[in-house]
Amino acid sequence: MLVLLCGGLGYIGSHIAVSLLENDFDVLIADNLSNSKIEVLDAIEKITNKKAQFELCDLCNLNQLEKVFEKYKIDAVVHLAGYKAVGESCAKPLMYYENNLISSINLLKCMDKYEVNKIIFSSSAAVYKQNATMPVDENSSINPSSPYGKTKYFIEEMIKDVINSGKNLNAIILRYFNPIGAHQSGLIGENPNGIPNNLLPYISRVASGKLEKLSVFGNDYNTKDGTGVRDYLHVCDLANGHLLALNYLNEFKGFDIFNLGTGEGYSVLDVVNAYNSICGNKVNYVFAPRRSGDVAYLFANPTKAQSVLKFKTTFSLKDMCETSYNFEKNLK
Ligand code: UFG
Repeated sequence: MLVLLCGGLGYIGSHIAVSLLENDFDVLIADNLSNSKIEVLDAIEKITNKKAQFELCDLCNLNQLEKVFEKYKIDAVVHLAGYKAVGESCAKPLMYYENNLISSINLLKCMDKYEVNKIIFSSSAAVYKQNATMPVDENSSINPSSPYGKTKYFIEEMIKDVINSGKNLNAIILRYFNPIGAHQSGLIGENPNGIPNNLLPYISRVASGKLEKLSVFGNDYNTKDGTGVRDYLHVCDLANGHLLALNYLNEFKGFDIFNLGTGEGYSVLDVVNAYNSICGNKVNYVFAPRRSGDVAYLFANPTKAQSVLKFKTTFSLKDMCETSYNFEKNLK
């Protein structure tokens, strides 16, 4: 079975590629390298001893994408391509709407034309209403606060509308919480360009001496230690969730949504302390004002994925920090 991974050289996509290759799927990666590096392809091969096929392709270019669909007999699509920085999306909303929506429209057009009828779409906890009652399940209120979150929700709705129009399409939407950590080989992980926006890559760069200190955004939230609480899950557990969803799609018809998280919330200081316990207390931090748009708590009710997809998380917070640090130490 050939699976097209759109955005497959990115942080999450590369871990999914490994998981699929290890489970005897054939993998075709389409990526425009806008936030990823071609070397990741070699790393995937080194880990799995198998080759993923690769096409340099910008999904916003319909002609380019059609050529990919023409050249390969694709059985299913995992769609991870898109811009993903919450803050940047508030500063450049049209760039986000244009890139994330046009690419998805083009992909759905090609899937229709070339009769590919299975899609897994990478959505986000960012679609939920902020300050909803925690934990959030798939029926909790939707009200994304950033253009990034809105693009994720609009794409979910677009896919649903295509299915409702009578097209032969079956879709699983996966709403990720906070994926962190890296592959145990240390060969693939999260390596954003420039100064990281997210907690874990920032902490890793402080631990490795590339950045001086972490700013902890807010210590006056109504949480156990005053810092924000999130549902961190290991990226390999998340990748496995895609494998389960693909297998489920073999029989499944229609449209369904699953949260992928652990159901457990950790504060920023929990993460810093766990990281310090494995790197020898190198993560210096200061408290800084709250970051605009952040909420005190965000964590999943993952019961539906657990019962329907048989989704399980297996990595502890310490494992997540350890694999992240190992990857960071390997970076030049
Ligand atoms: N944080 C800091 N300092 C930093 C970075 C983050 O204290 O330098 C804190 C944040 O305030 C928050 C926690 O660490 O309390 C996690 O922040 P991240 O930026 O790592 O993650 P978010 O929860 O803000 O965002 C993540 C994904 C988004 C997704 C969102 C869902 O990055 O793609 O979850 O709400 F949309």
